Amino acid sequence: MIQGIPSPSGRGRGAPNARAIVECLRLTHAGPRARSHLLSRPPAGDQGRTTISSEFRFQDEGTSTSYREYAIEEYKPHVEPYYLPIGGEVEMFTAAFEERIPVLLKGPTGCGKTRFVEYMAWRLGRPMSSEDGSEQALPIVTVACHEDLTAGDLVGRYLLEGETTRWIDGPLTRAVKAGAICYLDEVVEARKDTTVLIHPLTDYRRLLPIEKRAQVLEAADGFLLVISYNPGYQSALKDLKHSTRQRFVSIEFDYPPRDQEADIIAHEADVTERVANDLAKLGEKVRNLREHGLAEGVSTRLLVYAGKLIKKGIPARQACQASVVWSLTDDMEVQRTIEEVVSSIFE
Ligand SMILES: Nc1ncnc2c1ncn2[C@@H]1O[C@H](COP(=O)(O)OP(=O)(O)O)[C@@H](O)[C@H]1O
Ligand SMILES: [Mg+2]
Repeated sequence: MIQGIPSPSGRGRGAPNARAIVECLRLTHAGPRARSHLLSRPPAGDQGRTTISSEFRFQDEGTSTSYREYAIEEYKPHVEPYYLPIGGEVEMFTAAFEERIPVLLKGPTGCGKTRFVEYMAWRLGRPMSSEDGSEQALPIVTVACHEDLTAGDLVGRYLLEGETTRWIDGPLTRAVKAGAICYLDEVVEARKDTTVLIHPLTDYRRLLPIEKRAQVLEAADGFLLVISYNPGYQSALKDLKHSTRQRFVSIEFDYPPRDQEADIIAHEADVTERVANDLAKLGEKVRNLREHGLAEGVSTRLLVYAGKLIKKGIPARQACQASVVWSLTDDMEVQRTIEEVVSSIFE
């Protein structure tokens, strides 16, 4: 049965779609072994949570799909997310978390920031593993920030219910209460009023003001604010203000060095070492084409996609055309330049 959970934005009942998306993303990157695990049963430690998390089975003309639904502050990785550390970021994040210093992840799209946060949530939650020995992760509340995102979307709002009103907590409030990692992805996109909320949460007081209710909330112990920001998109209007950025320790991300990127592609796409090496080489060469008018180099994510298509039997050049060339640019001249690089690697 569907357990209705009020959507934090108040725009629908239970927001199953948003949760389904979260779950689908998780299934996509958890790897084949993890997927079969996730599709079978929740881990032992989570079985008592069914009043909040529900499992759905959906039958359609002989196909069977299932997904699980979580209240936003309940979502956490159930198995260790695959993450290859590149250079001290795990130790840095751990130290920041232990001191409850908020963290800013800087870097281009598709270089591993989200995966890193998921991995850290799993890793930092382990000391709190449950009595039955099952491993725990910290919950992660992720909010993809966009230009219409207001303080009300994050904190909560009153909803009309018949003749009365009811208060619904937003995702940030829920994370503060649950002691979750709150990951505000692409934070510069959000409207300026959101910074008013972030600031008191980032200093030693760890307070969330809820203006409409004349309340302040003290963050629960595990709460940590993590924001991401892509300096590549930065414009004078959309830069992160100094009064904000100087409240965080910053971890700089970039695309991994070739050998490590090859290991990541081999793991994620399950391709041979040779294919993974060739794709990593392609990544390196395309990133050196910046002066040819590419706004951003090819992401690790796109190289993994190429690997997955190759694994499925799509010829390498076509796979690279679809996942690298056409995804990167619409400019035909730049496309031709990238195609030449592809041809030089995949003959
Ligand atoms: N260091 C890494 N370890 C494991 N996977 C990685 C790493 N860096 C990138 N990836 C891969 O790249 C993909 C995109 O990373 P993601 O975390 O979604 O990027 P971002 O959040 O920076 O846009 C991931 O799904 C994963 O397959
Ligand atoms: Mg991301």
